[in-house]
Amino acid sequence: MTKQAKYKALAGQFIRAIEAGEYQGGQPLPSLRQLSALNQVSMTTALACYRYLESLGIITADPKRGFFVNLEHNPAGDIKHAQFTAQVRPLPTTPPPRLRSGLATAQLDPALIDAQTLRASLTRTMKGNHTLFNYGDPLGEISLRQALVNHMKTQGFVLNEQDLIITQGCLDAVKTALELTTKEGEVIAVPSPCYTGLLDTLSVMGRQVMELPCNQDGIDLVQLENAMAGQQIAACLLSANFQNPTGHCLSVQQKQALARMARQYQIPVIEDDVYRELSHDGSPPLPVKHFDNDGWVLWCSSISKTLAPGLRLGWCAPGRFYNRYSDLVRVRSLGCNRPLQLALADYIGRGHYTRYLKKLNRLLALQCNQYIQILTSRLPKNTQINRPKGGLVLWFEMPNVDTKQLQARLVDEHIYILCGDAFSTTDLYHRYVRLNFGQCLSAEVESQLTRFAQVAEQHLCQKPDKNIS
Ligand SMILES: Cc1ncc(COP(=O)(O)O)c(C=O)c1O
Repeated sequence: MTKQAKYKALAGQFIRAIEAGEYQGGQPLPSLRQLSALNQVSMTTALACYRYLESLGIITADPKRGFFVNLEHNPAGDIKHAQFTAQVRPLPTTPPPRLRSGLATAQLDPALIDAQTLRASLTRTMKGNHTLFNYGDPLGEISLRQALVNHMKTQGFVLNEQDLIITQGCLDAVKTALELTTKEGEVIAVPSPCYTGLLDTLSVMGRQVMELPCNQDGIDLVQLENAMAGQQIAACLLSANFQNPTGHCLSVQQKQALARMARQYQIPVIEDDVYRELSHDGSPPLPVKHFDNDGWVLWCSSISKTLAPGLRLGWCAPGRFYNRYSDLVRVRSLGCNRPLQLALADYIGRGHYTRYLKKLNRLLALQCNQYIQILTSRLPKNTQINRPKGGLVLWFEMPNVDTKQLQARLVDEHIYILCGDAFSTTDLYHRYVRLNFGQCLSAEVESQLTRFAQVAEQHLCQKPDKNIS
């Protein structure tokens, strides 16, 4: 067994024991020395196992007292969820108009982007390579794929550079994945609510959608499994980490179950993982792809949320669909912008990305708290805002406010928010709002938040909705 397989196998035993209730939350685990002796593994493997479990959020290390099982945690806080039975729904044929950024678009403030160091990487790349302006590898520059793979390895997520294909952002990666795994008219399962851009993509591609309800633990896997077992869906498209808009993360067990279901029913899972590295505590959770041994998960991501959406660079690890995916990429575009890929490889390879993400996540955690503080003090009393543990957006319900009207009213004042309706084919979320907290809290942003709260107060309607069941 390789070193990696050894510590993962050992970690797997712990996960199962914790699941089976053999260890309770808060209970101490064997010391490293005991673990190593009990299982006849080296201290390095024992430590790697605990570090891995720590990265999964399953255990915590206390420098003085050792390792402990984490207490039960609810990743997305106490979000309320509409419960309903999943069914196929038509998508609107014309996507909603794009609102200007500000509070509406999930993106970082330019002041947060590591522009100076990124520019230095661009300059270095421009100077250094005499074949810079020639065609490159249509599947992506090998130096970028290597840099990405090495970067992810430090987070306990192991891939090979030959598994990755570079794309023009995450949506491009998702679109290609949908194109080769599904056909026009087929049904794709998505979580409800679902990021508007994914709903728009499905609509433009002529796919139908089956919205699946989420409970406090994330997407309802029982309903998903029923849909898979009944062959009602051609694929499932979701984010397992800091989902847009709810901020949900699936648990390790749910990720494992999803990978198992994809394999068992031979239905591809397209995983959109753009927010994974925006984990406010600095430790990115693992993707479903990590648990996929049979290649049924097509893992898509990009640097758009973490670093620079303008570079339009992302990737896909398409698993068993690799050959067809690469054919499609090859014939379609002959690859992505080469100088930008090389500059990004330089930036990541020099360790700048890791350092920058650490700092960025601390700042985002702070910003998220600031936004919540301001909003809770100014919004109508019955507005409850839960704190996401990662990502860029807040998603909350204002029980007595029609948020579509609110959105339209605010546009007149050049304040842009997104109403809940944009995230569903149902009308379950018309009391919800999504706000980007990626902008630094300037006086202007604060006055926009204040004005948003004032106008929301004016839009209070008489009757709260009843819970949908
Ligand atoms: C879930 C999700 N996927 C993909 C994207 C877009 O990613 P990219 O800009 O890399 O195409 C977004 C942007 O908001 C998003 O929220």
